[in-house]
Amino acid sequence: MVTKTHTHSPENPFIGEIARCLKEHAGLEEGIVRLLIDIPPNPDMGDYTLPCFTLKERFQKAPALIANGLADAPLTGGQITRVEAHGPYLNFFVERNGLAQWVLEDVFGQKDHYGCLDLGSGKTVVIDYSSPNIAKHLGVHHLRSAVIGNALYGLHKALGYRVIGINHLGDWGTQFGQLITAFTRWGSEEALQNDPIDVLNGLYVKFHEQAEKDPSLEGEARAAFKSLEEGNPGARKLWERFRDLSLREFNKVYEALGIRFDYYTGESFYNEMLEDTVDKLKAAGLATKSEEALIVDLDRYDMPPCLLKKSDEASLYATRDICAAEYRHKEYGFAKMLYVVGSEQKLHFKQIFKVLEMMGDGWVKDCTHVDFGLIKFKHGRMSTRKGKIILLEEVLDEAVTRAREIIDEKNPGLEDKDHVARQVGIGAVIFADLSTRRTKDVIFDWDVVLNFEGETGPYVQYTHARLCSVMRKYGKPVGTGVDYRLLKEKDEYLLVRKLEQFPKAVEGAARSCEPVIMCNYLLELCGTFNRYYNHHRILGQEEGLTGARILLSDCVRQVLRNGLTLLGIQTPEEM
Ligand code: ARG
Repeated sequence: MVTKTHTHSPENPFIGEIARCLKEHAGLEEGIVRLLIDIPPNPDMGDYTLPCFTLKERFQKAPALIANGLADAPLTGGQITRVEAHGPYLNFFVERNGLAQWVLEDVFGQKDHYGCLDLGSGKTVVIDYSSPNIAKHLGVHHLRSAVIGNALYGLHKALGYRVIGINHLGDWGTQFGQLITAFTRWGSEEALQNDPIDVLNGLYVKFHEQAEKDPSLEGEARAAFKSLEEGNPGARKLWERFRDLSLREFNKVYEALGIRFDYYTGESFYNEMLEDTVDKLKAAGLATKSEEALIVDLDRYDMPPCLLKKSDEASLYATRDICAAEYRHKEYGFAKMLYVVGSEQKLHFKQIFKVLEMMGDGWVKDCTHVDFGLIKFKHGRMSTRKGKIILLEEVLDEAVTRAREIIDEKNPGLEDKDHVARQVGIGAVIFADLSTRRTKDVIFDWDVVLNFEGETGPYVQYTHARLCSVMRKYGKPVGTGVDYRLLKEKDEYLLVRKLEQFPKAVEGAARSCEPVIMCNYLLELCGTFNRYYNHHRILGQEEGLTGARILLSDCVRQVLRNGLTLLGIQTPEEM
């Protein structure tokens, strides 16, 4: 559901006045007007517009006739200078200087907080993201969940929610019995030190090779997992080591990406609670035996059964997710829970949501599987050290190296080039991911991703840095005490309107879990600013004009910074 609001404080006085006038002269509730009112696509048509479609019932007239009728009411005066009907739309013209003043004072006054709303205050959003399986490398396919989850974290925080970020590590399951078995037989502590994940991965592969020849290994692994589930200290100690070493590796990548979690409560966290969940399902008559396994039959819903326990009593992925959902609901009392997980797990989430519903957990309606497509490389260009999987770390390194080359060429004198190259390279990767509509596949093409003039992270960062440079050159304090009448260029008006819409872009991106909305917003703001910058001089004008243009520019800089920050992208001041 997308609700329209313009609730950033202070409340938009123009919409306020329009709402009051329409109430006084046409009896429309102010709340309805605030909900409906929008900005026309073309400034020649007005500054605000009231689409009359949904008023049909209430006025018992065609929308165009409603607009026409309302246009005759005495709505002008104060800040409203003109009212016109345009088909089914009622268009309002307001004092544009006043509009510019209000928007720029709002941005300038709120600084880093501009765009923050209080729609979510008192409510909690739980976000389950990244959540990789331990003892395996982080591949490039792990990028999307981490980056989308992190952006949704920032966006919901801006809406005022308490946000809880959970890394639901895949750190439990029969494969850890296999690893324990393999390590006990063939592993060495020494080798583990050097490249732990490689060693663990190797052991895993070796286990499967050997198990083909000697099926008794499977039984041994099952027993090992059982002893792990039962809390056997030796098994537990080995497993903890695997987990710690994996996390150490993962954290390097999270750090490079600037991603954090509030909790690393993975699947293992629920081990002791699983029995209760299974008992509850049994008591409700939902769990049934099928070929020695324990399942929830979902035949009636056209889905394969949800597997709770294998024949050897070992718990499964779905069992742990059902348990985790109930735990999180009890613990955090969330208003929303988002699972940022690839589209290939659609069925899994449909199943567990259905089971939760069958258990009487009505709150499951507040759980969403935020799914996404794959990452693909154009021309398959990406050499890799690890055979089939492309390591996420390698992709990030490559992006930084390439960013460094571009910087060397474009701005050889830049200070701290390594640092900026990191910001730009990583920012490029994050933006490339987020600017693709979630459910589509990301096609990764280095030349596109790092193009400073394309629809890319570096382009937005570059525009921001350019603005920082303008501010440096100006060198004086910026203030809001300017003559707003001097901002009379069309692009200046368009910039003001774009800035006004930033809070709405934050809200829209968060509500629909589509960071692409914020990416597109930032690209449009950059486009408008760069066109303006190419056609108009900011510095070196008569003092008053420069002062006004500087204020406008500083507000654009601020909003670019706020938007990139929400998405988890850094904002170098020079590049
Ligand atoms: N560990 C899983 C995987 O790598 C993803 C877990 C997603 N989160 C969840 N609650 N199921 O496929």
